[in-house]
Amino acid sequence: MNERLSVPLILLLFCATVFGQVARQTDFISYREAQPIIGGMRDSLPPGLKALGAIDAAKWNAWVQERDREIRQRLDRGEEDTLVNLLRFGVTYTKEYRIEDEYLVRYGNSSLVNSFARNRANDLVRALAAPNPSPGIADMRDFLVKKGFSFKTPQDRAKVKKHLLDNLGRMRDEFLKYRAQKKDESRFQLFQDRGISLDSNLWPDYQLDVAFRELAAKGLMKPGSVRRVAIVGPGLDFVNKEAGVDFYPPQTTQPFAVLDSLIRLGLADPANIELYTLDISQRVNVHVAGVRKHATQGRAYTVQLPWNTQRPMSDEYRAAFVAYWQKLGDRVGDPVAAIPVPPADAGTQNRAIKIRPQIVQKITPIDMNVVYQRLETKPDQAFDLVIGTNIFVYYGKFEQSLARANIAGMLRPGGFLLSNDKLPDTVPAGLKDVLDTNIISSNNPLITDIVFCYERVK
Ligand SMILES: C[S@@+](CC[C@H](N)C(=O)[O-])C[C@H]1O[C@@H](n2cnc3c(N)ncnc32)[C@H](O)[C@@H]1O
Repeated sequence: MNERLSVPLILLLFCATVFGQVARQTDFISYREAQPIIGGMRDSLPPGLKALGAIDAAKWNAWVQERDREIRQRLDRGEEDTLVNLLRFGVTYTKEYRIEDEYLVRYGNSSLVNSFARNRANDLVRALAAPNPSPGIADMRDFLVKKGFSFKTPQDRAKVKKHLLDNLGRMRDEFLKYRAQKKDESRFQLFQDRGISLDSNLWPDYQLDVAFRELAAKGLMKPGSVRRVAIVGPGLDFVNKEAGVDFYPPQTTQPFAVLDSLIRLGLADPANIELYTLDISQRVNVHVAGVRKHATQGRAYTVQLPWNTQRPMSDEYRAAFVAYWQKLGDRVGDPVAAIPVPPADAGTQNRAIKIRPQIVQKITPIDMNVVYQRLETKPDQAFDLVIGTNIFVYYGKFEQSLARANIAGMLRPGGFLLSNDKLPDTVPAGLKDVLDTNIISSNNPLITDIVFCYERVK
């Protein structure tokens, strides 16, 4: 019996139609491939898997597909979080105070905070119900409508307002729980139960740039050696949870920032580079497919490059980041006038880059859950580089081990995986740690960002 289960044909057909090309085949991780991890982590298996008793291929396949569905459902809760970020921080639809962390914790107990939260909710409902909302607000409205909300009558809108404020209360409770956790690995426990959000910012891209430089300087990554790149979870940024600015449309920046760094450092040749985005989110995949399709018609993709100047950071880090940011994009596009930062958001600086269609066409989106699926790669299609930042934090050790094995299976011998999460090595998966790039971003409080680099053993 063939123990490997392919993703449903319908999904492949969907991908082929939406992406205008035949999608590369993704398969669920088979029992045979997972067996070493199941055996090696017998004491720390997820409760649902443990409860199955003796595991065989049929039980494994059913469990994997159920878990894949559950993970994809977490995207819905991530969208709820984006909606709360919009309520807390948005500056385009209201003049009310932003609900910064010190106000969030007082929500429910302070008449002042309650009153500006209510005013914000009224303003946001008005913006959501307006005839021509901005693209980001329109996405949020579509999300609410899919959930069964409507904006037709005052009663309908009152229900949306209640939903927004209930979610603000939920976020306050989660925030308090998160803050109470010890500053060690266990604090990430909360992320493992959380919704999966799509937001991103430029910090990981800067950190990757530093790591690439170090890998090149040490001779680990050779000039021109990167031809096939995969970015797991590129994200689709709009009101991110750090600064929450909502003045630009949802956009994906990481694939272009990574290409820009690789080309600048001579690690990749723009003429023959290929980049694949691997994501579970239809919103991300459809966005990337749309951008690529426009590029084939000769249209460039303009991305905004906002950053939060008020984040705690050392002078050294700030100077190095600004130097990176000022050049960011010049190898993949040309600077254009940026969307002006609204005055209410004085802490943000922005510039914009129009990415050349020839570069945008290098990108192919693939619907894939890196924890439970892997991409079928013939030896000549294996990746030279896989990147996953702010992804693995959403998963427990067992799932991270599966992801590690899946990625190892898609890399060519000598290829690299870079992540800002340390992946467990309880079970060898053919990846060895070759370099940790430590970047001190702030001295007070001390914050060190680390990029972990793994190499597929030859
Ligand atoms: C918080 S965003 C991170 C965006 C960007 N990588 C960054 O560091 O700013 C998480 C992204 O990972 C995707 N994602 C989460 N779990 C995934 C999985 N198991 N497989 C593939 N993509 C996943 C989400 O859909 C989203 O696009």
